[in-house]
Amino acid sequence: MFFTKYPHPANFTFASHFCSSSGALHLGEATLTASLAAFEGDVYHLSLSGRWAPNGCLESLEPPPQTEGSRVRITPEGGIEMDGLFAGDIGVSGEASMFRLRLHGAARFYGMGEKTFGRVELSGLRTKFWNTDVWGDFHFAQWKEHPSDPPYFSTPYVCVKIGDEYVGLLLHNPYPTFMQTPGTDESRVFVEWQRTAPELILGSEGGEPHLWIICGPTLREVTRKLQKLVGVTPTPPLWSLGYHQSRWGYGGHDDLVALDAKFEEHQIPCDGLWLDLDYMNGFRIFNTSKEMFPHGAAATAEALKRNGRRIVPIIDPGVKQDPGYAVYDDGRSKGAFCKNAEGGEFVGLVWPGETVFPDFTLPKVREWWAGYVKGFAEEGFGAAWVDMNDPSTGPVDPTGMRFGNGSEPHEAHHNDYALGMQMATRDGFAQARPDERPFMLSRSGFIGSSKHSAIWTGDNVSNDFYLANCIPCSLGLSISGVPFNGPDLGGFGGDVTDDLMVRWMKAGFLFPFLRNHSSKGTRDQEPWNLSPTTMAVMRRYIRLRYKLLPYLYNLYIEQELTGDPIMRPLFYEFDDQGLDAINDEFMIGPSILQAPILGKAKTREVVLPGDEPWYDATNGEWVRSGAFSATNSETPMFIRNGSIIPMRQGTPKDNRTVLREVVFHMFAVPGSTMKSSYRYSADDGLSFGYRRGERSEMEIQLNGCEDGISIIAEHGSTDFGRIDASFVIHGPSPDLSINGERRRTTAATVKLTGANLISAKVLSENFAEK
Ligand code: NOJ
Repeated sequence: MFFTKYPHPANFTFASHFCSSSGALHLGEATLTASLAAFEGDVYHLSLSGRWAPNGCLESLEPPPQTEGSRVRITPEGGIEMDGLFAGDIGVSGEASMFRLRLHGAARFYGMGEKTFGRVELSGLRTKFWNTDVWGDFHFAQWKEHPSDPPYFSTPYVCVKIGDEYVGLLLHNPYPTFMQTPGTDESRVFVEWQRTAPELILGSEGGEPHLWIICGPTLREVTRKLQKLVGVTPTPPLWSLGYHQSRWGYGGHDDLVALDAKFEEHQIPCDGLWLDLDYMNGFRIFNTSKEMFPHGAAATAEALKRNGRRIVPIIDPGVKQDPGYAVYDDGRSKGAFCKNAEGGEFVGLVWPGETVFPDFTLPKVREWWAGYVKGFAEEGFGAAWVDMNDPSTGPVDPTGMRFGNGSEPHEAHHNDYALGMQMATRDGFAQARPDERPFMLSRSGFIGSSKHSAIWTGDNVSNDFYLANCIPCSLGLSISGVPFNGPDLGGFGGDVTDDLMVRWMKAGFLFPFLRNHSSKGTRDQEPWNLSPTTMAVMRRYIRLRYKLLPYLYNLYIEQELTGDPIMRPLFYEFDDQGLDAINDEFMIGPSILQAPILGKAKTREVVLPGDEPWYDATNGEWVRSGAFSATNSETPMFIRNGSIIPMRQGTPKDNRTVLREVVFHMFAVPGSTMKSSYRYSADDGLSFGYRRGERSEMEIQLNGCEDGISIIAEHGSTDFGRIDASFVIHGPSPDLSINGERRRTTAATVKLTGANLISAKVLSENFAEK
């Protein structure tokens, strides 16, 4: 399997004739069947059959209802056409298939899930989708500070902007897939033939071809439709959105209680304490070392509950091939492991040495695995971190690993192996605690993983390349149907410097997922193990994340309803020219724009899109694009005019967020006429009660006029109790009315990303609803 070689159209036979009544598609001597279905909302599905086994994807898609009429056509000449957007060819080469599309007009390309090309716009690239264990499969000189492609997680999806219209193209096929985008990336062209073709090429190296075409016209509409098609992320438990502390090297009880005490001592909120490989007996999964947990993990979990922290242990798929080890013996007797070409167990070389791999493509094996996870959860573990599920087989070629009791080649499920592990692991937690929302973090995955797991972007390094890269990488995932994602904060490999950690913390504190993780043998990077100044900055921004948790949590609620991602490129919200060339700014939800200073400078240029001024969260001024500076503890962050942002009161020093107690921060240009609205939801942040209606809602409207501000706040449902709301109005104290009554405000100060800001507040006691 070459990662850096791509099929060439010259080796394909393209269709020349299509009979719409029979569906027969003629390609040279071959006849296949093509079918095209249209779904509500301008969504189309083109599939070919007649040469491949039926699509073996572990998770199915969730398309909208089917409909008549279609902007997409298979022409009598066997081409594929879409009104206004593209015309193209359908080709095959043995088991491989290709769609070659000529785009009508200049085009831009986005998405592709997890990629490390360092930019959000993806013209002029050849790329593959094949889950890799980057550190195992590439040389260190490559991954240390260069893009290594393909990385861990595969989403064969590209969003194309043609003229003013966005269209999403998704290959739903777990076989290795590839894409080639027109355009120029001169850094990749040393000789002419390295230039990509003028057409957009999407294809698979095997497996039944399934192309989904999702039309906008806007990026928001495409992304929402895609997210619903692949599956929204169920609202995660609130604790999973907090700060997480991990390190390869934490062992068991003693390390965990020591970490707990440190977070308490330094009053840094933290929700998850993570365990890497060392808590196991000789890397045997589901086998907790008594030495590490002398009183059992449940006793430790109980002790950590006092501060509301959970233990998140690592679980690898690989089972040590070790007769006498119960999990191995049991799996072997049940035929749970993948086979090699000779019908024996496929053996790789991973942490425990000779290792076998559960065949997650088989429902009975997923059930078998879920049983172990259930027991594990009952032992006291609060969640799971599923790693090495690319699947990593060490130096052993994974393509010898067969699935389906040996009946299916490795390529058929390599890319959705991790997805199967996620499905089974989630099931195990659900069985152990049926009313608790499970949380899992996974390294690899595929289309559909969004329904099961958060994703971290794998092993990065403590350096500027990965700091800069984490923004476009997370943005790519976010607009490709994987909203719950983030990098290892501070970098996994190498020694972080204080300066780098400060910059990474300020850039990353609002990412959808926030975990500080580092490798064995590297400098300790817990906040207190860095300099006192660094710790102060880390503490400050972790606390600010907790202050903003009601906002973040509500973005996840919205995501479950609408499909909008948490982290967004600027052009998700604004259609100003040139925004897709910006790789170092991003939005968190519709209201917050971050423009972190990634390098060592103290000043940077910031583009603030749209026609209105933005509120500078460092100093409370209303500003427009330009140069901004920030001291060591500040970071450029801007809030959109008209924003209503729910926050925790004061400066949170712990993780005890009560969603029913909320302060709505209002940001309106003084004296301007504007109207905006926001719906806030509160629930217990943990159970599935919200699905039974146990959620309270409040609708807030903010109206600005020349002489002041009026707020209308009305409870919707109170099924989770009444929401206790206060209001903070940023800027000079305005004339204020709430629900039609004039209100006196008291002066207040609020700290966001800079110095204290002057604001006016109305406490909840004064708030009477109509
Ligand atoms: C590889 C993972 O990517 C990393 O995060 C983890 O620490 C190591 N495996 C050891 O388990």
